[in-house]
Amino acid sequence: MTTDDSQRPETWLNEDPEDELAQRRQETLRGGGEERIESQHDKGKLTARERLDYFLDQGTFREVGPFVEHQHDEFGLDENRVAGDAVVTGYGEVNGRKVFVYALDFTVLGGSVGEAVADKICKVTEMAIENGTPIVGIWDSGGARIQEGVDSLAGFARIFQRNVRASGVIPQISVITGPCAGGATYSPALTDFTFMVSETSYMMITGPDVIETVTGEQVTKEELGGAKVHATRSGVAHAAVDTEEAALDDVRSLLGYLPPNHLTDPPTVRSNDDPDRPSDALADIVPSEPRKPYDAVDVVEELVDRESFFEVHESFARNLVVGFARLDGRPVGVVANQPRVNAGTLDIQASQKGGRFVRFCDAFNLPIMTLVDVPGFMPGTSQEHNGIIRHGAKLIYAYAEATVPLLTVVTRKAYGGSYIVMGSKYLGADINYAWPGTEMAVMGPRGAVNILYRDELAQSDDPEALREDLVDEYREEFANPYGPAQRGYIDDVIRPAETRRRLVDDLDVFRRKNEQTVPKDHGNVPL
Ligand code: HXC
Repeated sequence: MTTDDSQRPETWLNEDPEDELAQRRQETLRGGGEERIESQHDKGKLTARERLDYFLDQGTFREVGPFVEHQHDEFGLDENRVAGDAVVTGYGEVNGRKVFVYALDFTVLGGSVGEAVADKICKVTEMAIENGTPIVGIWDSGGARIQEGVDSLAGFARIFQRNVRASGVIPQISVITGPCAGGATYSPALTDFTFMVSETSYMMITGPDVIETVTGEQVTKEELGGAKVHATRSGVAHAAVDTEEAALDDVRSLLGYLPPNHLTDPPTVRSNDDPDRPSDALADIVPSEPRKPYDAVDVVEELVDRESFFEVHESFARNLVVGFARLDGRPVGVVANQPRVNAGTLDIQASQKGGRFVRFCDAFNLPIMTLVDVPGFMPGTSQEHNGIIRHGAKLIYAYAEATVPLLTVVTRKAYGGSYIVMGSKYLGADINYAWPGTEMAVMGPRGAVNILYRDELAQSDDPEALREDLVDEYREEFANPYGPAQRGYIDDVIRPAETRRRLVDDLDVFRRKNEQTVPKDHGNVPL
């Protein structure tokens, strides 16, 4: 609980302590009382107000609705009325830029969402939409307030409705700092980014007890919905970090790349990196042998402004890297195949991760830099049966629909469908480069030769030697960037070292595309 009055606006200090307003305001700071605050601290958690104090620039928080109380008396609720109820709402600044906030207060009825809590969250979300300002929600909540029955459920529906109205209009970010159960999970899931704190936060639709009753399965809270599981397996969380402070620091950093709303360009900063810096290291980072793994993050970090890369969804679908960075001070979204994980193949999860990220960038005017080194889609019955066709289509849809500048560089190989999907020229890339030595074809040389020369290989006395000859021949014909460059699918073949300079220049040239499209309500993205 905030006790540091130096962080309060001056009006808090200048009032007579006997004054009713001063007394009432003091009341609003108590939340669920000292005992519950202590219990919160004992669990290693901050209170809602401490979180906001840490998150916002000092002294900038302005509270909205500190006196709101619930109007219910079911199941003894009339004896449990607290000024502000179970959420602290308002606005403030992050690095001098406005942001709306709400933080669920677990010390009041377990941060449960009743009618008044929903009213407060809806109100600040509407304010954020109307003023074109990002909103950050900090969750620590037992979910729908049981005593308020259907009013709580309707409250969640109203929050979801605001989440969807805000979607694509203002950035929405969620931080999970405690339980987030039942319907409460769907509000963060409707926002753009979700950060979780390891060991103290968990998200689940139904808890372990219900699961055991219904299915007999035994599972702990952590195994079921802890930060790690959501950051690595379900993809619900974009990051799992060790402390609440680290999560809030990450959100502050993330906001630095984002515009306040969809009508505004992202904030440019003064770059302290040379836009013309040649990246000689790139030729060493990317091995010429097409199957040898390397870390795509090293390539990204060489190309973008020094120390500007902010990866999101790092532990989920690690075969695709996505994140934000700056090129000569301008924010961009980065999408890169990761040859270090499953050879960088595209699978269901990578397609979902990439598709959603590309759509976010497109909604918020962030140009997309795509680095392509992809052997294909992941083969196998599991992928086919679980819908790689349906999910892969999401990534295609997202790129094809994007109207932000798309800058694509093929760094080593691009085969088949995965070549087309990864921001290729005729999906809408404004500029598409390839490095010398790049292989681009319907499939890799070995697979192609096995199909094209099946009979010849079967009849040969020395199939291995024949295969090698045919692979060399195929490579010469298809596995280089000059064929595609002659046909215009590649705009230029450039050296790795000059890539940064070219991309910086291109960002200047390829402004937002203003295509005339036939009006429609909306497309039917394959969800
Ligand atoms: C009312 C609640 C509450 C709730 C917790 N509390 N959840 N009060 N409604 N949903 C109260 C507790 O009664 C307790 O009050 C105080 O908050 C702290 O809770 P504890 O249980 O003591 O804390 P802890 O041991 O840390 O456990 C936290 C918890 C647990 C895991 C969140 O409280 C819990 O399981 N709550 C219920 C979760 C849930 O099933 N919610 C409904 C989901 S359904 P006292 O006074 O005793 O200290 C849902 C549907 C929405 O959300 C659908 C929308 C589409």
